[in-house]
Amino acid sequence: MNHTFKLLATAAAVLTAAAYGGAKDFPFPVEQADRTQIRQESAWRAAVVPAVRQVTPGDGCFTLTANLRIDTGGDGELDRIGSMLGEYLETTGLTDKNWRPTDIALAVDPGLFPEDYKLDIGTGERITVTGGSPAGVFYGVQTLRQLVNRYKLLQIAELPRMVIEDGPQFGYRGGMLDVCRHFFTVDEVKRYIDILALHKMNKFHWHLTEDQGWRIAIDKYPELTTTGAYRSGTIMGHAAGAHHEFDDIPYGGYYTKDDIREVVAYAAERYIEVIPEIEMPGHASAAIASYPWLGCRGERIPVERAWGVFPDVFCAGKESTFDFLQDVLEEVIELFPSTTIHIGGDECPKVRWEECPHCQQRIADEGLADEHELQGYLMKRIEGWLRERGRNIIGWDEILEGGVSETATVMSWRGSAGGIEAARMGNYVVMAPNSHCYLDYFQHEPVVYEPQGIGGYLPVEKVYTLDPYEGLDDEQKKYILGVQANLWTEYIKHEAHLQYMLLPRLAAIAETGWTGPADKDYEGFRDRMRDLADIYEAEGYKYAKYIFD
Ligand code: ACM
Ligand code: ZN
Repeated sequence: MNHTFKLLATAAAVLTAAAYGGAKDFPFPVEQADRTQIRQESAWRAAVVPAVRQVTPGDGCFTLTANLRIDTGGDGELDRIGSMLGEYLETTGLTDKNWRPTDIALAVDPGLFPEDYKLDIGTGERITVTGGSPAGVFYGVQTLRQLVNRYKLLQIAELPRMVIEDGPQFGYRGGMLDVCRHFFTVDEVKRYIDILALHKMNKFHWHLTEDQGWRIAIDKYPELTTTGAYRSGTIMGHAAGAHHEFDDIPYGGYYTKDDIREVVAYAAERYIEVIPEIEMPGHASAAIASYPWLGCRGERIPVERAWGVFPDVFCAGKESTFDFLQDVLEEVIELFPSTTIHIGGDECPKVRWEECPHCQQRIADEGLADEHELQGYLMKRIEGWLRERGRNIIGWDEILEGGVSETATVMSWRGSAGGIEAARMGNYVVMAPNSHCYLDYFQHEPVVYEPQGIGGYLPVEKVYTLDPYEGLDDEQKKYILGVQANLWTEYIKHEAHLQYMLLPRLAAIAETGWTGPADKDYEGFRDRMRDLADIYEAEGYKYAKYIFD
């Protein structure tokens, strides 16, 4: 039998045998509590995704009430978290009028690590959530939300008594969204952030500039959005197909500065840092379409209508390009308080640079070996400028090719090799290998039954197997900051499709990032996902159900 509720449900089973009714495959009846369980088993017994670190079971149950009071000691920030908890609990539908008043207390104990928390439903008259910082309290609240939701499913208001002590393995747990290939509104972006928060993710990598659209208003360069945010049509079907047709329907959109501030504040209230990506030197067609002098040839090009990699990139020879990039970043860092700015670096063809007198002059003047080193020059120069302003850079793993500074963080996407190389060199790394983290890949075969994807096959079981530490010794492991899910949107036009690609694969990445590779357990994850999927249902999120097949 499945051990998931061996401990949790000792008392609850008696209460719920009737309510349960066999509608879901829950493992009742349960056996007597066994308090000598090893750590990992006890972790997934709490039916939370990502799995918690430690559960100490208590005796009996705690009765929840509809009229609960949340005590925050008058702290404004905890009040806000308490309001969110109130909203989560309102959706439980547990409306039994006979419940007695319950207190839930939220508090900060700086003795804990900032993102750690202790959720105590152990012995007291109240539930307490104590975090090392408000972020830790927020994560404890997410756990409580999931536990309560489980008992909503069972239609009882009893939480088995237990104490959960929990915290993340990795400090960087991210999700990237490409809003350039297809545009998503502020409300849609906020819902993406809600999904990250539910999974205890703490970074939102916002991919804001591309060949097919520039999506962030920059006061000094208005053409970036009047021209660069719109394309005259979009390729139909798959770009890898033999014949290309375009729909000729103008498409675009961008975020005003107020929109950006709204999203950044919304994310911050959920303890998510927004890391903007301003791509350079490649994927720059929309910028060059707006200001042709940014390219090597100085010729006007259109905002791209197809998907792929395109030859016109920022000219790395002309000083005006650096002036432009720095002006843009000046406005970007004013909007985004993140310590890290993503400056792209991937997929930059060198054909224009090879023919460009400015670029060739730069190579000669700087004593660079080739165009790869010219890219390294550009990235390092921009990094230096940002560091003078207190910001670090992160870039895709191609930044290793032209020589990388020791302070750059590498985002490994072409598999894990770039990340492994960077960690061995002593550079910080975020692991987002396409082998495990590219959620634009199909998640089930045969693909004829799936919505259009970019290609590849990445089922949730495979996502779950990511080990960000693979190939690294203990010293090198210290450079792995964490993991990230990437959602590119060439073939994703609508929010429903976006959520379907994201869920539940994001949950698998969240468990790698929070619980850590050593304590993962796919069978347990799949069981716990039934409960998390119920929250997806309650929130109206679309998700793939193959994990339950
Ligand atoms: C990427 O997928 N081109 C980073
Ligand atoms: Zn050039």
